[in-house]
Amino acid sequence: MVFQAPAAYVRLTPVCGIAGYAGPKNAAEVVYDQLKRLEYRGYDSAGVAFQTPTGLGLLKRAGRLNALRSLMDEEKPEASTAIAHSRWATHGAPTDRNAHPHYDQSGRIALLHNGIIENYLELKEELIRRGHTFQSETDTEVAAHVLGEEYRDGRILEQAMQAAIKRLRGAFAFVAISTEEPGRLVAARSASPLVAGLGEGENMVASDIPALLPYTRRVVILENDRIVSLTRDEFRVTDFNGHPKEYEETLIDWDVEAAEKGGYEHFMIKEIHEQPDVIHRCLAGRIGDDLRVKIEGAFSDSVWQEIDRVNIIACGTAFHAGLMGKRFFEDLLRLPTDCFYSSEFRYSDPLLSPRSLAIFISQSGETADSLAALRLCQRNRIRTLGIVNVVGSSIARECDRVIYTQAGPEISVASTKAYTAQTIVLMLLALHIARVREMPGVDLNRMAEELRLMGDRAQTVLELDDDISALAKSLIDTKLVFFLGRNADASVGLEGALKLKEIAYIATQECPAGEMKHGPLALIEPGVLAVFGSTDPRVREKVVSNIKEVQARGGTILAITTDDDSSLDGVAEHVLKIPATRSVHLNAILSAIPMQMLAYHMARHLGCEIDQPRNLAKSVTVE
Ligand code: M6R
Repeated sequence: MVFQAPAAYVRLTPVCGIAGYAGPKNAAEVVYDQLKRLEYRGYDSAGVAFQTPTGLGLLKRAGRLNALRSLMDEEKPEASTAIAHSRWATHGAPTDRNAHPHYDQSGRIALLHNGIIENYLELKEELIRRGHTFQSETDTEVAAHVLGEEYRDGRILEQAMQAAIKRLRGAFAFVAISTEEPGRLVAARSASPLVAGLGEGENMVASDIPALLPYTRRVVILENDRIVSLTRDEFRVTDFNGHPKEYEETLIDWDVEAAEKGGYEHFMIKEIHEQPDVIHRCLAGRIGDDLRVKIEGAFSDSVWQEIDRVNIIACGTAFHAGLMGKRFFEDLLRLPTDCFYSSEFRYSDPLLSPRSLAIFISQSGETADSLAALRLCQRNRIRTLGIVNVVGSSIARECDRVIYTQAGPEISVASTKAYTAQTIVLMLLALHIARVREMPGVDLNRMAEELRLMGDRAQTVLELDDDISALAKSLIDTKLVFFLGRNADASVGLEGALKLKEIAYIATQECPAGEMKHGPLALIEPGVLAVFGSTDPRVREKVVSNIKEVQARGGTILAITTDDDSSLDGVAEHVLKIPATRSVHLNAILSAIPMQMLAYHMARHLGCEIDQPRNLAKSVTVE
């Protein structure tokens, strides 16, 4: 079976679930059903807003959708137009109040949102000075108030949306309804995905195609920077200045399971392909126009000045991201940094200086060993910082401070986009501290510029997918794969190896390339594959020597290098080239992506159960 996501749909994957409906059915029930169809992606709260003959109705609940269901069963909403949202928190904890939709100041408009409004704090202060009051901590409520302010002077909702967007900076997919325009729903998107469904006497929008499939297979994948205004029998698309725009209708013939995976065969490859978007989201609001890195949630400058040592504590992929963090902190900040497996740390008697900082990295925020290690640090009165993906998770709540990776829900057991987001956050943090500590020799502007290009560069790396698939197919008889490199490439190799053994069940051996001759070289023989990371030009010659050592013993080489390097052409049997950045650390971060793809395609060609590998669970909440 061939799975192929439409090009416009490939890159962007929503974090939150969005549904909106105008038509003859009970719209409140339709949008609830649509949210149910997006439930597999994860969420932490949900809400529905609907037009009533006397105004708007709004029902919201933290927790699972059945909490909202109970409320709907009590209230029994009936409407011909409704919008609904399942939230994956970014600003503010998952509570009833923070759940979407949100009203504007007057209560005439209800708005829901997927994305991040970068200038929401400035706008909120401005609105408070004008007398606005807020019920939630979200950036979305601020956007609702801005939309409400622009809904004036005879403007229709669509025009108010155009005006509001001009005041907002960031990524968004919005859907709004108003008391004054019965039967109408206005939506807009910039950077966050939005699709529309065209039915017979009914029209709808959603964040993702699976929500639409029971109602229609005629789908419009909205282009960036578009506004949609629809009723049950009207559908129009404009740009942000109100100029009408053409749109393309796609007939979706996927089954529901394929649709949940965005047309991909597995969640893992879908999540690998989300990485450009994840990087953009992870950087959103964290690099200013002046290239200054600013991280909300981190400690004050005086704390950063005081810290004399960092201990990074995590498991699995998150631990490997920590190893990259160690390199960033030591190379850029000259700040001594150690990495510990949580399972080891929790039963150790660690040397913890009172001026040290413990950083806990976790996608789920629920890993039992990491949580126990965190509590050990707290008993020792050590400052703790979480780098976590799931908002409101145990590690996020229990750390003194938390920085969210904003990678969106990760469903595949094999972690991919979380690793990239964790390493990007660690680099942002290193740059933040470098500014505070006035580190000589760190060109902060250059690094910030390079970081901003990372999403597009990741996209370029993804274009290697077909080549890697073909290569993986030719390699499936391999019984042992080495992952080798020097400096940061050695750290990334550990992650490449974990991916391969985890999902393709192929034995791996990973170590710094220079260590080979101290023992592991004995395992090299014909049929063994060695994946060499060679993205650091400072040690490339050394890597070439290590490659020759392996080849002399019959091993086959797959080298991953940058596109400005030709030293491995004709030397390694297989060479994959990724875009060169002006930072060896960022080169290394990018090199993880081809390794993820290699593991994925080898597992696929071997017929392995990719998203749920044997013996493993997504979140390890037991010891
Ligand atoms: O949720 P966490 O980041 O704390 O999980 C840590 C590890 O269990 C996790 O990274 C695991 O190693 C993945 N399956 C690797 O792909």
